[in-house]
Amino acid sequence: MSFTIIDPAPARLNRSELAVPGSSPKFFEKAAQSKADVIFLDLEDAVAPDDKPQARKNIIEALNDIDWGDKVISVRVNGLDTHYMYRDVIDIIEQGGERCDLFMIPKVGTAADVYALDMLVSQCEAAVGRKKRMGFELIIETALGMQNIHEIAAASKRNESLHFGVADYAASTKAHTTGIGGPNPMYGVLTDKEEGKDRDYHWGDMWHYAIARMVVAARANGLRPIDGPFGDFSDPDGYKAQAMRATVLGCEGKWAIHPSQIGLANEINTPSDAEITKARRILEEMEKAQKEGKGAVSIDGKLIDIASIKQAEVMVAKAEAIAAKD
Ligand code: GLV
Ligand code: MG
Repeated sequence: MSFTIIDPAPARLNRSELAVPGSSPKFFEKAAQSKADVIFLDLEDAVAPDDKPQARKNIIEALNDIDWGDKVISVRVNGLDTHYMYRDVIDIIEQGGERCDLFMIPKVGTAADVYALDMLVSQCEAAVGRKKRMGFELIIETALGMQNIHEIAAASKRNESLHFGVADYAASTKAHTTGIGGPNPMYGVLTDKEEGKDRDYHWGDMWHYAIARMVVAARANGLRPIDGPFGDFSDPDGYKAQAMRATVLGCEGKWAIHPSQIGLANEINTPSDAEITKARRILEEMEKAQKEGKGAVSIDGKLIDIASIKQAEVMVAKAEAIAAKD
């Protein structure tokens, strides 16, 4: 272990994160009844400029009046480059009571963006005597944000999670796509020419680098990495494939931009019974091995060692948190 100890963000389940436009209050009750772990009420890109003041009012009313149960509630405020953001923050803290847990900050570009928002939120919280500290979810969705991701992740004690905003990221990097997430048939490799053999074309994942980089920055700072949207909500198989590859890389959850995606995200980010059983077996076998003075043993013909204990503990802790909630 390094001598530098990383404090983890407050533990919260974040398997699915449902996006709900603040301008559509008719969806709020249904969202509150859903199985989403986290809900973000949106004031940013899902809300047209003329609707922003009303969306803010809708969200404040919903924070005060709706029974959100055990859901983690977030509000996505507008970007720091707009004139909406300061009012989003002030009104939500002054009028929204204590129900909101997190602010989601879009298009974060530098650590100073987070610092500035931290200052404003700290002043508002102190002025109203808020007891619960607002946490931050940061969307990494610009080339600038991806460049500065490590400093951004470390910029505030309020930081809880990093999110990969694939749609804006594609626009910012001028990637050759118009979809929201998903693969692109132009991104692939052709196998070598071989006498008498057909060549295969393998699609690649054009978002691999961005997600892997976000996972490292998040984990190195004790934050949750979360994969962002998949726009084609009529393609559950495509959604599942995208969610799975993010989870395999270390993400804890994925956005749902449609209620039908909530169950898929929860399923993929919940360890299966077989995985949990195996993790518990690893812990038992390693405990026995350590009593016998051994650092490594084999299970089913495969090596496990002290690193396997840590992997298994992560799996079991997640399973226990999910069991406690469900
Ligand atoms: C999310 O905000 C995105 O741009 O993908
Ligand atoms: Mg975006």
